[in-house]
Amino acid sequence: MTVARVAAAVLLLWLGSARAEEPPAADAPPASGYTGSDWRWAAGPTDQADSYPKTPHAAALSVATRPAAQRGCEACHGPGQAHSDAGGGKGVGGMRTFAKSVPAPQRSAPCLVCHAGDKSLHDFTSGEHAKSGVACTDCHDPHKGVGETMLVKSGTALCYGCHLDIRAKFAMPEHHKVDEGVVSCLDCHQPHGTRNPRLLKAANDRTCFRCHGDLEGPFVFEHTGNVTEGCQRCHEPHGSTGRHLLIRQQVAQLCYECHAVTPTSHVQPSYRDCTRCHVSIHGSNTDPRFLEQ
Ligand code: HEC
Ligand code: HEC
Ligand code: HEC
Ligand code: HEC
Ligand code: HEC
Ligand code: HEC
Ligand code: HEC
Ligand code: HEC
Ligand code: HEC
Repeated sequence: MTVARVAAAVLLLWLGSARAEEPPAADAPPASGYTGSDWRWAAGPTDQADSYPKTPHAAALSVATRPAAQRGCEACHGPGQAHSDAGGGKGVGGMRTFAKSVPAPQRSAPCLVCHAGDKSLHDFTSGEHAKSGVACTDCHDPHKGVGETMLVKSGTALCYGCHLDIRAKFAMPEHHKVDEGVVSCLDCHQPHGTRNPRLLKAANDRTCFRCHGDLEGPFVFEHTGNVTEGCQRCHEPHGSTGRHLLIRQQVAQLCYECHAVTPTSHVQPSYRDCTRCHVSIHGSNTDPRFLEQ
């Protein structure tokens, strides 16, 4: 019996079911502790086995020139020789599992062996998700995941699963149309991790300028450029009860937070609606007081 055949027989036990198929020959010498074989053919009709061949890993990880430690099932589940020698079975021989009880860094480490160099994953370990105990496999399932990226759930459902408070924000009367499919969490956030606070894709306002480029300036007379806290000082990015996603119901209320003193003319009730006159509130090239021309 070849190593591949032993591994196959053992895996059938592990999966608890059998399928009568002839295995392909082992195509490279096994490294220490690894059978070096691609066990895919051996998998019985389980959820894992049925779905795995359709994922991007199946083809990529079966390439014969890969080192054994980076091939097939063993690339993620670790060396299978001991499992094989001990006669197989679930939990036998120390095959790696990704159970939620395993600390997050240990669950992510096997993925990072190959993916740490990916552009989007450079800042993973310093990102807020990794630091809060979220692992790759909380969002990705290499067996049953949805689509090319094998996500546990697709779209906003993935994020809402853990961020109920954010879901409530997008249900408010004024909101970015995320639930409607116009804007996505991923337009503003990089869930893997970034150098910016709040997992934002770009440094503060740059995240917004991708779509609201007309407000970027520079303006001859800056207003928001003077507001050091950025767009969030006046707007709630997710949703709010104030019109234009403002953090206050009344525009005047917002202005008074920074402009305790206004011209005496302004005490009249007709001056309550500040942006009726100060129309170019984000900045102007013609008027230092952002008044209509
Ligand atoms: C890209 C990494 C990866 C590859 C390759 C991979 N798996 Fe998995 N496997 C996982 C992850 C992650 C889980 C846990 C999924 C979850 O959260 O339910 C898992 C779960 C399993 C389970 C369930 C384990 C348990 O404790 O319930 C079995 C069985 C399994 N894989 C078998 C295989 C077989 C057989 C192959 C090769 C045909 C394979 N896996 C290839 C990552 C991988
Ligand atoms: C042995 C190396 C290796 C390991 C280990 C590995 N991957 Fe992969 N992964 C690849 C390769 C190769 C591809 C396909 C080529 C590509 O698109 O980068 C891929 C593709 C992916 C993709 C789809 C990429 C796309 O652009 O659509 C995701 C998502 C992914 N892997 C996540 C994971 C997760 C999560 C783990 C750990 C459970 C993991 N990988 C473990 C090598 C690996
Ligand atoms: C909080 C959820 C979450 C976590 C944790 C997470 N991912 Fe992702 N990942 C995503 C989402 C969402 C996408 C889809 C991005 C898109 O469609 O633009 C993605 C995309 C990917 C891709 C496809 C190409 C790319 O770079 O965007 C790869 C590869 C990948 N993830 C690997 C990993 C690995 C490896 C880990 C752990 C080190 C990990 N992910 C952790 C949510 C997550
Ligand atoms: C239009 C851009 C944008 C979209 C779309 C967006 N966010 Fe945000 N998000 C932000 C900004 C900006 C912050 C930082 C707010 C601050 O610092 O006050 C933030 C902060 C957060 C925070 C930190 C806690 C908090 O309430 O400030 C979480 C969690 C979050 N977003 C999750 C999500 C999820 C989940 C989605 C999709 C359902 C999403 N975001 C969609 C821009 C966005
Ligand atoms: C498995 C649970 C889980 C999933 C799924 C998840 N998150 Fe998170 N996320 C967390 C935890 C835990 C934190 C840290 C505590 C907090 O801020 O709520 C966090 C924090 C964040 C933060 C704030 C970071 C900061 O600096 O305060 C943002 C933004 C965020 N997540 C966005 C997303 C987006 C977008 C998705 C979907 C692609 C997503 N999350 C999916 C668990 C999750
Ligand atoms: C000093 C407070 C303040 C700051 C900072 C601010 N805004 Fe506004 N924004 C407002 C007010 C007030 C309105 C409502 C104007 C009106 O009533 O017509 C508004 C309206 C908007 C509108 C809808 C109407 C329009 O002009 O297109 C968008 C989009 C917008 N802001 C985006 C942004 C972005 C992006 C940033 C960051 C670059 C930002 N805002 C920073 C106060 C602010
Ligand atoms: C992916 C594109 C995209 C990004 C990124 C984006 N927005 Fe928007 N934003 C939109 C769209 C589209 C609308 C119009 C929504 C609608 O039709 O109701 C909008 C509407 C708004 C409005 C309300 C306009 C009104 O007239 O009521 C404000 C305020 C706003 N965005 C602020 C921001 C801020 C602040 C950021 C950065 C944190 C940001 N946006 C990032 C696409 C985007
Ligand atoms: C977060 C603080 C902040 C908020 C909120 C704010 N402003 Fe300003 N505004 C400033 C700063 C800073 C300047 C620069 C001049 C200064 O130092 O007073 C300025 C300048 C101005 C000017 C130019 C005249 C002057 O005083 O130099 C006008 C007019 C103005 N703001 C109107 C408004 C209106 C109307 C609102 C409400 C829609 C508003 N501002 C909200 C911080 C703010
Ligand atoms: C009817 C139009 C109108 C409305 C409404 C209005 N303003 Fe003005 N505002 C002006 C004009 C005109 C000036 C410049 C002439 C002056 O001093 O009266 C001005 C000047 C200002 C200045 C700059 C003073 C300086 O030192 O240059 C600030 C700050 C200001 N307004 C804030 C506000 C705030 C806050 C509101 C809402 C509570 C508001 N404005 C509503 C017309 C208006």
